[in-house]
Amino acid sequence: MEPLLDIVAAPESGAPRWRALAQRGVVAGVAGLWPISPLGLDFLLPIAPATEPGAAELRLYVQPEWRRRGVGSRLLTAVREQATPPRLVTKVAVGSPGQAFCRRHGFRHTRSWRHELLTYCDVHQAWLGELVDAEHPGYRLTHWTGDLFAAPRVEDLIRSPSRPGNAVLTAADADGEVAAYALAVVGAPSDPRAHQYGPAVLPGHRGRRLSRWVNAALIQRLREVHPHVDEIETAGAEDDPRLVATREHLGFRTLRRVHIYELSEGGRS
Ligand SMILES: CC(C)(COP(=O)(O)OP(=O)(O)OC[C@H]1O[C@@H](n2cnc3c(N)ncnc32)[C@H](O)[C@@H]1OP(=O)(O)O)[C@@H](O)C(=O)NCCC(=O)NCCS
Repeated sequence: MEPLLDIVAAPESGAPRWRALAQRGVVAGVAGLWPISPLGLDFLLPIAPATEPGAAELRLYVQPEWRRRGVGSRLLTAVREQATPPRLVTKVAVGSPGQAFCRRHGFRHTRSWRHELLTYCDVHQAWLGELVDAEHPGYRLTHWTGDLFAAPRVEDLIRSPSRPGNAVLTAADADGEVAAYALAVVGAPSDPRAHQYGPAVLPGHRGRRLSRWVNAALIQRLREVHPHVDEIETAGAEDDPRLVATREHLGFRTLRRVHIYELSEGGRS
């Protein structure tokens, strides 16, 4: 039986958010829309699939004791009636209720991602040093540190002066052009986990082990600049065998797998 509750918009947040309120103001579930983050999964990748303008990330959560009673569906209906992004994009863990929920509501599975973790105590520093020092004729490593500004281009970052900040970028440069890069962002000094984006290798430079090189150099550099970092989390497409192999080689281990689901408005995806 459907529980008695109200779906209310939460305008005070200034962003599209909804709550499912039960009696006495108990919050049974929440939903919200976020802009597709420039620090999201496709961050900086030159080959990233274009994101449709206006597409929004949907986050929906129902308290475990309220599940399977239609609360999530009612929240989704409110989102679709009251907000009008052309496309909703959501991430769910593989094998989770979110997957069944997305399928039930006509979302289309568009991509599969794997989250991975590298722990510094598993990295043999001498071995890492050898990888970094290996010659790659025609290429040279460059580094940048600083704070990220909105939607930066790697070329602009690497040419700007380094300064203290929460990001470390390592690039392989070929005659002044960026050929490959990897970037990491750190949190507060109390947070030992950094987040890595890439490595990415530009067309025309593939098949030369540049991804392993820039990633190894990033792992090394990150620890030098931010000694409090103990581990690096990253996410990548599961259907990219080169990326998967590079990360495995460097010692990344699978943390969890997520599926990206999308729903186009104006009909089932
Ligand atoms: C996914 C989630 C939001 C669903 O909330 P909910 O209130 O339980 O969803 P509903 O009751 O509206 O379910 C609608 C339909 O989704 C499917 N579904 C939801 N949970 C399911 C589960 N655990 N197993 C199988 N099917 C499920 C069913 O088809 C269900 O219809 P039915 O109950 O008539 O069979 C909730 O489980 C949750 O918060 N999970 C953690 C966060 C998450 O994964 N969010 C991503 C959602 S985009």
